[in-house]
Amino acid sequence: MFHSLGLEAAAAPEAEIQRAPAAARPGPPCLPDTPSLLCSPELSRPQDRDSAAERSPVPCPEQPEHWGQAGACTLFAGGHEDPVQLAMLILSCSSKLQLLEGVLRQGLPKTLPVHGSIMNINRGNPSSYEVLVDSWPDFKAVLVRPRKEVVTDNSDVFTNMHAAFYRDLGAYRALLDSPGAINWGHTIYIIGLQDGLYEASRDVAKAKGVQVNWQCYFTFFHPDPSTMPDIRLDPTMKLSSLNASHVDLLNATWAYGGNEQSRQYLARLIRSFPSTCLLDATGCPISWNITDQFGTTGHGYTLPKYRSHGYNSIVAIVTAKRLHAQGYPSFGYTSLDNYPMQRLQVSHGFRLLPSLSYFINHHPTPRTVPS
Ligand SMILES: CC(C)(COP(=O)(O)OP(=O)(O)OC[C@H]1O[C@@H](n2cnc3c(N)ncnc32)[C@H](O)[C@@H]1OP(=O)(O)O)[C@@H](O)C(=O)NCCC(=O)NCCS
Repeated sequence: MFHSLGLEAAAAPEAEIQRAPAAARPGPPCLPDTPSLLCSPELSRPQDRDSAAERSPVPCPEQPEHWGQAGACTLFAGGHEDPVQLAMLILSCSSKLQLLEGVLRQGLPKTLPVHGSIMNINRGNPSSYEVLVDSWPDFKAVLVRPRKEVVTDNSDVFTNMHAAFYRDLGAYRALLDSPGAINWGHTIYIIGLQDGLYEASRDVAKAKGVQVNWQCYFTFFHPDPSTMPDIRLDPTMKLSSLNASHVDLLNATWAYGGNEQSRQYLARLIRSFPSTCLLDATGCPISWNITDQFGTTGHGYTLPKYRSHGYNSIVAIVTAKRLHAQGYPSFGYTSLDNYPMQRLQVSHGFRLLPSLSYFINHHPTPRTVPS
C-alpha cells in the first residue's frame, strides 16, 4: 500500500497476524541494555543517577537500580574540567516503555512513527530497536534507532532507519548531538512528522562533516478502520499473507528494491510483521502490502495487469482492520505525485494529515570521523 521512501508498509494476512517469535523478544522487564559509552555507570555520577531515580514515576520493582544505570549520565569529557551533561538516556525498562507508548498515543497522529516503533518494541521488538530520550519522565525528545549489533553494514539505509519526535526542538537538537546518540559514520534516515527535524539534523550534522538531505511524503491516517466496509472477495483470488518465497517478487517490483540490502530488508519485514496479499489461482501474489518496524503500512503494490480491479483496496482494508484490532494506528506514506495511491486512501476514509512526513538522509563524507 503506501510507501515511504526506501520503506513502505502495510499489512494484514488472512490467517493470524504473526508477530515476532518469543525468542526474539526482549528480556525480562527492567533489565538494562548493554550500557552505551554515555551511560556506562563508571562515567556517571552516583548523585545524578539517584536523583533521576527519584523522579521516575514508574518504579521498576524487578531492578530498581536500572534507571540509574541507563539513565542520567554525566560524561567527564577529556580536556574539560567541568562534567558535560549528556542529554541522552536509553530507555529499556518495560514499565517505562509502556508508559511512553501511552503518552505518545495521546499525541497521535504527530507521534506516529515513534509510537508505532515503541508499540513493536513493547510487543517483542522483532527489529531490535531501542529508545533514546533526552530526560525522564518529562521527556522532550524521543529517538528510536536500531541497536548497534543489528547494523552490520554502515551503508545499509534499510536497516539504519531512525524515527524522532520532539516536544522541544532544542532538546531534540541536544539529543541528536549527544555523543553516541547517532553513529555519524553510518548512512542513516531519520523519519518524523514535524517541521524542524531537518533543520536540527542539518545543523548538528554540519559540524560533523555529514551531508544531510531530505524527501517529504504525504501521510494518510485512518481515524477508525472499524468503519471501513467489509470486503467482497473475487472467488478466483485467495486472501493470504506474504512468505519467504515472495521476497524476490517484491524486491523486483519495489521502486526502492532490486539490490541485496533491499531483499534482506523485505525478507525481515515479511518474517517479522503483518502482511496481506491476494493470491491468484496458481498461488502467485498479485496485490499486497506489508507493515514495517514503525507500524507503517506500505509496499502497496498490484501487478500491472491486475490494476483497477479493486485488489489493493481489499488488501488495504484487510490490513487496516487487522492493525486496528491489534491496537495499532493505521497509517502510511504516499509520494506527493502518486495520485492513484492518494485517491485510493481517500476513498477508504484515510485522512491526509496537514504535516508532511520527512525522511532525512544523513550520509558521511569520506573524511567524516564518527563520534
Ligand atoms: C497504487 C496501486 C497499488 C493501486 O492498486 P490497484 O489494485 O490498482 O488499486 P484498486 O484497484 O483497489 O484501486 C485503483 C483504482 O481502481 C478503481 N477500481 C476499483 N475496483 C474497480 C473495478 N472493479 N473496476 C474498475 N476500476 C476499479 C478504484 O476506484 C481506483 O480508481 P481511482 O484510481 O480512480 O481512484 C497500483 O497502481 C500500483 O501497484 N502502483 C505502483 C506501486 C505504487 O505506486 N504503490 C503505492 C506506493 S505508496
